[in-house]
Amino acid sequence: MLSSQWSVVFKWSFIGFSCFVLLTTETSGASQSNDPVDARLVEGGSRCSGRLEMKHQGKWRTLNVKITWGEATVKVDYAQVACRQMDCGTVISIKHHSNNTVHRPAWEVNVLCDGTEHTLKECKDLSSRRRVQGKNLTTSSTEVVCSESVRFGNGNDICSGRVNIKSDNGWAPVCEEGFDSEARKVVCREFGCGPPMVSRDSSTAEETLASSQKLKCNGNESRLQDCASSTHTCKKARSFTCEGSYDVRLVGGENSCEGTLEGKHEGEWRPLVHGWDSWKPQYSKEVCEKLGCGSVISTSYRYLQKRQDVWELSYRCRDSRTDSSFCKSWVAGSSTTIKTVTCAENVRLVGRPDRCSGRLEVKSGPSWAPVCLGPFTKENAQVTCAELGCGFGDEYHGKSLINTAQDTSLVFKCGGNEKHLLDCPTDTLNASHEDCGPFTTEVICTERPKEPSINIITMNTGNYDTNYKPDVFKGHRFAISCSPHSLYKPFSIRLRYEVDGDKAAEWIQTAVEDAIFLFPAPEDAHQGFYECDYNYEFKPEVFSKPQTLYLTMKERHDVRLVDGHSRCAGRLEVEHQKKWRSVSYQHSWSLKEAAVVCRQLGCGTAFSTSKVDNSPELLTKWRFQSNCDGSERALMDCGVVKNWPSSSTVEVVCTDILHQPSIAIISGPSFTEDAVQRMIMGHIIIINCSVEAQYPGGHFSLKINNVNQTHSLTQPAVNHSAVFTFTVTEGNYSCVYHNFLLNHNFSSESLSLPIKVTDYTNLMLDDGGDEDSSCSGMVMVNLELGTILLSAESTVWDLKHASVVCRQLGCGDAISTNTVTLPTKEKMALFYSDCDGSESALLDCGTTVEWFSSSYVQVNCTGQQGAPGMK
Ligand SMILES: *[C@@H]1O[C@H](CO)[C@@H](O)[C@H](O)[C@H]1NC(C)=O
Ligand SMILES: *[C@@H]1O[C@H](CO)[C@@H](O)[C@H](O)[C@H]1NC(C)=O
Ligand SMILES: *[C@@H]1O[C@H](CO)[C@@H](O)[C@H](O)[C@H]1NC(C)=O
Ligand SMILES: *[C@@H]1O[C@H](CO)[C@@H](O)[C@H](O)[C@H]1NC(C)=O
Ligand SMILES: *[C@@H]1O[C@H](CO)[C@@H](O)[C@H](O)[C@H]1NC(C)=O
Ligand SMILES: *[C@@H]1O[C@H](CO)[C@@H](O)[C@H](O)[C@H]1NC(C)=O
Ligand SMILES: *[C@@H]1O[C@H](CO)[C@@H](O)[C@H](O)[C@H]1NC(C)=O
Ligand SMILES: *[C@@H]1O[C@H](CO)[C@@H](O)[C@H](O)[C@H]1NC(C)=O
Ligand SMILES: *[C@@H]1O[C@H](CO)[C@@H](O)[C@H](O)[C@H]1NC(C)=O
Ligand SMILES: *[C@@H]1O[C@H](CO)[C@@H](O)[C@H](O)[C@H]1NC(C)=O
Repeated sequence: MLSSQWSVVFKWSFIGFSCFVLLTTETSGASQSNDPVDARLVEGGSRCSGRLEMKHQGKWRTLNVKITWGEATVKVDYAQVACRQMDCGTVISIKHHSNNTVHRPAWEVNVLCDGTEHTLKECKDLSSRRRVQGKNLTTSSTEVVCSESVRFGNGNDICSGRVNIKSDNGWAPVCEEGFDSEARKVVCREFGCGPPMVSRDSSTAEETLASSQKLKCNGNESRLQDCASSTHTCKKARSFTCEGSYDVRLVGGENSCEGTLEGKHEGEWRPLVHGWDSWKPQYSKEVCEKLGCGSVISTSYRYLQKRQDVWELSYRCRDSRTDSSFCKSWVAGSSTTIKTVTCAENVRLVGRPDRCSGRLEVKSGPSWAPVCLGPFTKENAQVTCAELGCGFGDEYHGKSLINTAQDTSLVFKCGGNEKHLLDCPTDTLNASHEDCGPFTTEVICTERPKEPSINIITMNTGNYDTNYKPDVFKGHRFAISCSPHSLYKPFSIRLRYEVDGDKAAEWIQTAVEDAIFLFPAPEDAHQGFYECDYNYEFKPEVFSKPQTLYLTMKERHDVRLVDGHSRCAGRLEVEHQKKWRSVSYQHSWSLKEAAVVCRQLGCGTAFSTSKVDNSPELLTKWRFQSNCDGSERALMDCGVVKNWPSSSTVEVVCTDILHQPSIAIISGPSFTEDAVQRMIMGHIIIINCSVEAQYPGGHFSLKINNVNQTHSLTQPAVNHSAVFTFTVTEGNYSCVYHNFLLNHNFSSESLSLPIKVTDYTNLMLDDGGDEDSSCSGMVMVNLELGTILLSAESTVWDLKHASVVCRQLGCGDAISTNTVTLPTKEKMALFYSDCDGSESALLDCGTTVEWFSSSYVQVNCTGQQGAPGMK
């Protein structure tokens, strides 16, 4: 039916990279024997667009291409064959449907076309075979739009080539004359490509044609056939290329430099995704460059509610080693994740691998121009870096650029807060003007301002030597300096002190170039991490990278007392410059200095200090020159020493010359509950106070502090210890050692030992009444398993034991004890004794063991029943 309209058949030949089309015309009847028509487009509303069908074995069916490789071009080539057969120009676009609602019979072919074939039959696979398989029902189809009256394209690159248009005489190239940039624009637009690329002058002269179409386009026509045309004898137009024949674009953004990344493949625009998450930064850069945009600002993903058809970079791209440009082997797929790329419109940094540093160029018409350094400012750098999403301008400098065609440079006068560099007021400057300086500017941006330097300063160092880590001694004031050394004036500099990852303290200084944080008299708690950072006024929420140092607090060990019985009394020696020497006695030496010595040694306060003349000859000592007020932590914090020949030395006696005694419970029924020592009420406790051998003699007192009162027991020290035996009461116990030395009473107290007393009865008398406790009756022992009778099967049980029972229960003395016999044996407590009758509790001097017995003990005490308790 359509074959009657065929009037021309074309022969295409490709020579190298550029293509020459030799036009031949034949009449439609000439090749009927070989049936030249085996492709058509149906249901598209026009002869030149619609679903692609193939004729095979005399039957038209939907064409399904089943190719597992070369996907990128094959379908376009099939479509080219179809467009040509239909005399419809070349392919403009293709849309592949994989999930039609209508199921149709199809021919599934597994062959390759290169786009030059006259019929689909000519397409062969590599082994020159042609495989066509019938499929009864398919949901796949390919929809093709051909250009009808214009031919453009070069093989599968549909955005590059020579333009031919259809006339009454068949297809012919257009005239070069009149085929200007406006006409190219129209062609590029008609074929869905980017704007025309600047024409290359390298094209050779063209032959003269007898007669061809001379066009006159305004540039706003949507199709070339809308342009005015007239027939002339002319040279044929050169081939040209549209931008975007690369086939990527960014859509949906505020401008053409941002949005969803789309790729055109097989004539169809779809989001372009990267299947293996191996998108490389340079791919985005390539996209921005290709689109004539500036630097890449960001690449991100967008998640969709619904799956969408996409082009996916094929598995073959995984092995692709071409890092400089992303792989062009794409396959159809679907995805819910699409990629968005944002490029700067007018600004770029080039010449460095890092996107956030490089030579600054600004767009000037279609090209890019460098910027000269002379009038460049840090505010310009700031705006540039902020615009590119690169944080802060960290640095800028000139870089010589040879062979710039530019003779003027834009001069920016940014305030620093502009969103785009081109928003800043500008001037132009002649490039040869001396103010221009080096003709290019390189800008280096940083995500966060770089870290400051941080240093400890002590009185000893007093300098900023970064490599030298001075010792910080307890009590010795120090300072921490923090210096940003940055391009901009810092807004605030902060120092933070960290304990276990928490910021424990923070100090901030504003309006300074460098900050010095002073610390008086540090203690252990000042040891730790100090972290310094800073921010700028124009972006106060972003702080620089921090710099951290760990401060170690050291104890001074440069003072000692020797030749006494104690480390807290004796002749003073001081270490200075690694030499230990005695200190010569000078009139300025006083109890204030001695107090500092005692504090530094952890020996309490100063008891006395005196001059000792110990040698008739002069020996080199330290002469101490003091600035002490007596409250300092260390002697060398408040004075300096010098060599000094002297015969005198200083002796210091501190109050804590006695060693600290220790306290220990030797015995007493006790148990530990909630990690607290608990004693049973009314029981005897034995406590041992002892002290390390130091001075002979002395005495101990055991101090008992409870809520209501303090009292103490005293014993002489025998072999440096004393034992205290008494009935326990609740309170905090401590041993104090006293000794009379140097005509003075010295003492030293142990740590405090808290003792809790528990009202715990392990014994009772049961008279058979309702009362829990009684002063006569069967002896019951409270054991872990419960309360059981005390067995009378004991060789030692007598009135002495009964009296211990009565005493323990607060029932006075024992009157009698007797045995009661039962008809059967039951579980009772057998008693094993070591009692002499004076004990305060039965289980203090004996142990019970569960066994079976048929007799038990009864005890009768003088006292009346009442609460058992302390005496
Ligand atoms: C094809 O379409 C049917 C119904 O329209 C749907 O259920 C099915 O999931 C689709 N298949 C694919 C692969 O999209
Ligand atoms: C396809 O259809 C033909 C005739 O309608 C039938 O003979 C054949 O079995 C079908 N093939 C399949 C795979 O369904
Ligand atoms: C194209 O531009 C010309 C002149 O520049 C104008 O006269 C014409 O109306 C425009 N056509 C369209 C479709 O915009
Ligand atoms: C720049 O200065 C040079 C030499 O002074 C001069 O020849 C040139 O015309 C000037 N260019 C512009 C654009 O002013
Ligand atoms: C008391 O403690 C001291 C020191 O630990 C020890 O030498 C002494 O033997 C103890 N005394 C008793 C009675 O346990
Ligand atoms: C023991 O000392 C602690 C704290 O040192 C105190 O809380 C407690 O009340 C004291 N106990 C007695 C019985 O005084
Ligand atoms: C302290 O005194 C109060 C009242 O004077 C008394 O009730 C309490 O039992 C006393 N505590 C001790 C531990 O002696
Ligand atoms: C004191 O210790 C000495 C020697 O260790 C010993 O001979 C002496 O018996 C001890 N004295 C007492 C009262 O324990
Ligand atoms: C030292 O203590 C004893 C008893 O504790 C006392 O008799 C004596 O007066 C005290 N001596 C001095 C100098 O305080
Ligand atoms: C205990 O002694 C009193 C007084 O001697 C006597 O009245 C009482 O019966 C005795 N009870 C027992 C259980 O022996």
